[in-house]
Amino acid sequence: MHVTIKPGIYWVGAVDWNVRDFHGYHTQYGTSYNAYVVKGDKVALVDTVKHGFESQLFERLEHVGIEQIDYLVVNHVEMDHAGSVKAVMEKFPDVKIVTNARGKIGLKEAYGIDEDVIIVKTGDKLELGGKTLTFIETPMVHWPDSMATYVIEDRVLLPNDAFGMHYASSKRFDDEFSQEEMGRIFFEAAKYYANIVLLYSNQVQKVLKQIEELGLELDVIAPSHGIIWRDKIPEILQRYKAWSSGEADERVIIIYDSMWLHTEEAAFEVAEGVVDEGVEFRLYRLKNSDWTEVMTEIMISKGVIVGSPTLNRELFPTVAGFLAYMKGLKPFNKVAGAFGSYGWSGEAVGKIVDIFNQLKFDVVGSVRWKYSADEKTLEELRELGRSVARKVRGS
Ligand code: FEO
Repeated sequence: MHVTIKPGIYWVGAVDWNVRDFHGYHTQYGTSYNAYVVKGDKVALVDTVKHGFESQLFERLEHVGIEQIDYLVVNHVEMDHAGSVKAVMEKFPDVKIVTNARGKIGLKEAYGIDEDVIIVKTGDKLELGGKTLTFIETPMVHWPDSMATYVIEDRVLLPNDAFGMHYASSKRFDDEFSQEEMGRIFFEAAKYYANIVLLYSNQVQKVLKQIEELGLELDVIAPSHGIIWRDKIPEILQRYKAWSSGEADERVIIIYDSMWLHTEEAAFEVAEGVVDEGVEFRLYRLKNSDWTEVMTEIMISKGVIVGSPTLNRELFPTVAGFLAYMKGLKPFNKVAGAFGSYGWSGEAVGKIVDIFNQLKFDVVGSVRWKYSADEKTLEELRELGRSVARKVRGS
């Protein structure tokens, strides 16, 4: 069945309960592909669903009583939202596609869709009769073609990926969840930001400013994944402001891997140092850890300490892989430290520091030693934890 967002505006998306790997992102709680119908005298469908989920979309359209779609607004051409554009075009042959200039290119390059489309830019309006859509281009939040659609009369923002989270649910609105469930949902929204949007934080700031400058009133923010915001709009906006400006909690994340447990023992010693300063920490051994979650913890923690042994003059492979992933997402505004055991050449710690420097982290210190740590090294490791913690606390 469908869900009514406001009279004449309906959720007609699909819930994907079983997806656990979304192009490498660990979707522990599944996801949804949210599509929306806006029904004036004419009917607009805003976004579609991932290929393979068309039947859910079409059943819900039928449930709303939609027999004709006049416009298909493509806010974003990525496959989880535009993967059923062709199916919609086949079912509704008279539909006109509405997208921006980059969307038109994307539709052609990704799907071979080269029909006439209505190209819109920020501020353009599409009158449906009784309902008016306007558009806000949001380039690189998180693809070049990304765009938001706003229903003027109802103050409903359909921002596609922005403000979303991977979370499958039988409930659609934030006010239907318990406080405990909302804690999980906000964490999933943080996870989404950390793993999908973080690299584009400057652009997010511009979009937030644009929303303010346009004076958009927001009764509802209905993203393309997860739950719909109508009760906690100030909270999610505030979190986007914080995440995009590099605000983080006064805590430290320690991530490492280990060959013969010398680097692991050191990680525990570093952690003791963090505790000495009364700062909270979390610790992850990468071989057993969910990268998606670790990346989230990095975003929300002010301090980042990374440990790696040296293997064949390189970083240990799990650490190398994770740091390549992290570097691509460009976390910023972090206090950092590095440590690692080695047998003879010992390049790993220097390579960690190089990556920190590329990210402009404030590197407080690093410790490297041969094989197992002696008393002096143990104290240096503990002091590394203390000094990162002190700076995290701002003292
Ligand atoms: Fe949910 Fe960028 O697609």
